[in-house]
Amino acid sequence: MSEFLEIRNVTVTFKVGSTIAARIKGDPAPILTAVDGISFEADRGESIGIVGESGCGKSTLAKAITGLVPVASGSIHLDGVELTGKRDRTTMRRIQMVFQDPSSSLNPSLTVEKMLSELLRVHEIVPGEKIPDRCAELMELVELPPSLLKALPRRLSGGQRQRIGIARALALEPEVLIADEAVAALDVSVQAPVLNLLNSLRRDLGLTLMFISHDLAVVRYVSDRVVVMYLGRAVEDRPTAELFDNPRHPYTKALMAAAPKFGVKKKPGESALKGEPPSALDLPSGCRFRPRCPLAAEICEQIEPDLTGPSEIERAACHFAWDEAPA
Ligand SMILES: Nc1ncnc2c1ncn2[C@@H]1O[C@H](COP(=O)(O)OP(=O)(O)OP(=O)(O)O)[C@@H](O)[C@H]1O
Ligand code: SF4
Ligand SMILES: [Mg+2]
Repeated sequence: MSEFLEIRNVTVTFKVGSTIAARIKGDPAPILTAVDGISFEADRGESIGIVGESGCGKSTLAKAITGLVPVASGSIHLDGVELTGKRDRTTMRRIQMVFQDPSSSLNPSLTVEKMLSELLRVHEIVPGEKIPDRCAELMELVELPPSLLKALPRRLSGGQRQRIGIARALALEPEVLIADEAVAALDVSVQAPVLNLLNSLRRDLGLTLMFISHDLAVVRYVSDRVVVMYLGRAVEDRPTAELFDNPRHPYTKALMAAAPKFGVKKKPGESALKGEPPSALDLPSGCRFRPRCPLAAEICEQIEPDLTGPSEIERAACHFAWDEAPA
């Protein structure tokens, strides 16, 4: 049976700058694999958390799913429709993204009402005469007073701006909402209300939510299932409760050991682990977590572990992940 959102072996690559010496020699620009064969599925109304350190490919994966960057290989299906190639405007609307910093993506010279009305008009979401009512409904959906429709973005607080960012995404009536570090720039006191809003929107509108964060505590709060990414790969993909009760991958365990408690603000992108991941342009042999793994053994140098487990919804990419019985 096919799932609502199906991500199959998605790989995204970028050509990156080469050194002057390499260019003089005529060497081709190196290719960085930012997302390396990721597969997962999501049901309608399900919330998938994507977590991992800065640079592991979370945003690139989100952009690939949204259609903002091309996939080098693999496929993306939404409700059985292939989205991997060029998307038309209607298809683009079905998956919307909320970004970390709403101020940089809101036009400072447009009132909230102008901005939302333009979107509704250009995308022909509702007839012209219904636009003011729909703007008011959108404000209600994100729990803001309609009086703020007349406000310019600079008059709004960080939390209000993020709610407007969510309203803007909802204006296009998406079926999948991808929130990329959506609360990372907010004060701790406004993080929980925005997370609660995303949860209730998911429930009320039946949205599939992909919630991206480097912060495990935040992901735990909103996700039914969590995909842990390391250097472009999924290293663990399990239901949230099982993952947090008994993490199977040494990387997940290390992330958890280093995680702050919910509500304690970390700087966006700040590394949760000792040491740095190796460069995606110069991966170690075998398991890519090996140079930082306390359990690394000989086999880890020779064979890259597959993402496998006792069932389709319980998977980890470590040779020893399933040696120990569940607690
Ligand atoms: N347009 C691009 N061109 C070249 N390299 C890129 C581009 N976008 C991302 N990358 C590289 O791809 C890798 C993954 O980046 P990405 O932004 O997806 O990570 P992330 O997990 O979202 O990190 P963060 O938590 O800091 O937001 C990084 O090595 C990054 O430098
Ligand atoms: S496969 Fe080996 S190196 Fe990789 S996470 Fe497991 S124990 Fe560590
Ligand atoms: Mg990112």
